[in-house]
Amino acid sequence: MRQDYWAKKAKLKGFRSRAVFKIMEIDQKVDLFKNVKSILDIGSSPGGWSEYASKKCPNKNIFAIDLLEMEPVDNVSFFKADIKNIDQIKAVNDKKGTFDLVISDLAPNITGIGAVDNESILELNMLTLEIAVNLSKTQSKFLVKTFQNNNFKYFRSFMEKKFSLVQNFKPLASKNRSSEIYLYGEN
Ligand SMILES: C[S@@+](CC[C@H](N)C(=O)[O-])C[C@H]1O[C@@H](n2cnc3c(N)ncnc32)[C@H](O)[C@@H]1O
Repeated sequence: MRQDYWAKKAKLKGFRSRAVFKIMEIDQKVDLFKNVKSILDIGSSPGGWSEYASKKCPNKNIFAIDLLEMEPVDNVSFFKADIKNIDQIKAVNDKKGTFDLVISDLAPNITGIGAVDNESILELNMLTLEIAVNLSKTQSKFLVKTFQNNNFKYFRSFMEKKFSLVQNFKPLASKNRSSEIYLYGEN
């Protein structure tokens, strides 16, 4: 398959995935890592975002979770788990109330059946929001991947209940034909 511009660029620069350019662009706009001491990366593999977070916040607490294995990243504690079972990860739960930034690039397996996919996206987005709110400090930031479908406004309305500022981002590295979009919330 022909590699796109961002995938080639990621390879040239030695990044693990093209996804890193998405967080980089959003970071340039909102200064994501400013005053951040503890980060949770949800849906982290292969590790582009974790690696970026580790470079931006050396020697800070960074935890990452994915269903799939992830090659080690300096300064990142990785847990191979389904986020539905996050309650069973003691090291993460011990940090409850200390996270300042939760980032989630999590994407469910797509079946191609619109109604089914939209529901699984919403379910995972709601779960990710709940995790972010439960584990974070009151003053915190949350970046989450979602999709522009008929549940988008509904999910955004939940973000607005939890964060005083909510913004949409469609980074350049996000494929135009993809309905993927990022929501950023901060308190
Ligand atoms: C687009 S990738 C993340 C890319 C990553 N941000 C990077 O920069 O390399 C989405 C990830 O979400 C993970 N994922 C999907 N459902 C999950 C779940 N229920 N629990 C944990 N991880 C999940 C997938 O395994 C996949 O690795």
